[in-house]
Amino acid sequence: MKILIDDANIEAIKKLYPVFPIDGVTTNPSILAKSGRQPYDVLREIRAFIGADAELHVQVVGRTADAMLEDVERIHSELGANTYTKIPVNTAGLEAIKRLRKAQPSAHITATAIYTPMQAFLAAKAGADYTAPYINRIDNLGADGTQTAKIIQDMFTQNGLPCQILAASFKNSQQVQELAQYGIGAATIAPAVIEGLVKNASVAAAIDDFTHDFEALCGAGVTMKNAK
Ligand code: G3P
Repeated sequence: MKILIDDANIEAIKKLYPVFPIDGVTTNPSILAKSGRQPYDVLREIRAFIGADAELHVQVVGRTADAMLEDVERIHSELGANTYTKIPVNTAGLEAIKRLRKAQPSAHITATAIYTPMQAFLAAKAGADYTAPYINRIDNLGADGTQTAKIIQDMFTQNGLPCQILAASFKNSQQVQELAQYGIGAATIAPAVIEGLVKNASVAAAIDDFTHDFEALCGAGVTMKNAK
């Protein structure tokens, strides 16, 4: 399962990138608004930092298919080849996905704002590369977000649709783990939730114990590099 950072805060991205096995960055209009900076200023900085080969997902804001496709054109021209344009799946979005796939067979398309399996199925048939179910937001509706992602994965398999899932909207490690266990293609996760994947008091205590025991034997500050 690929792991992407769901944020536009360049400092947070720079902090996580060298530590975690990260495959790219995703944003949406609300995330860009939270950065407080002009969209292409922050997106160009993210692209320069993550490099040309990493995935960058950027959402359209236009509300008609025509306006969405104009957004797609600008996004691609500004941010390079490995940029996925995120298109929300309502009727305008479906039309935009279908037209974009026909006009540009190699375009990278992420169908987003997925709350139901049928949205994902239709987007995949229309030509999306990824569909992005909102795990925690689905949970908040009283439905089951991880189960929805699994149903979508099964629908793609049963129907031979070459579309991946980019699960989004996570609030805890359990949601991420369940989807990794099921072989979901990708998850985009906010920085605090990514850090929480390995934040564990038992792990910290175990490592402290190892250091304490070793230093009792060899002296403070000694490691395997300079032990006798
Ligand atoms: O892009 C969709 C995803 O970022 C939503 O996450 O945390 O706002 O539910 P959240």
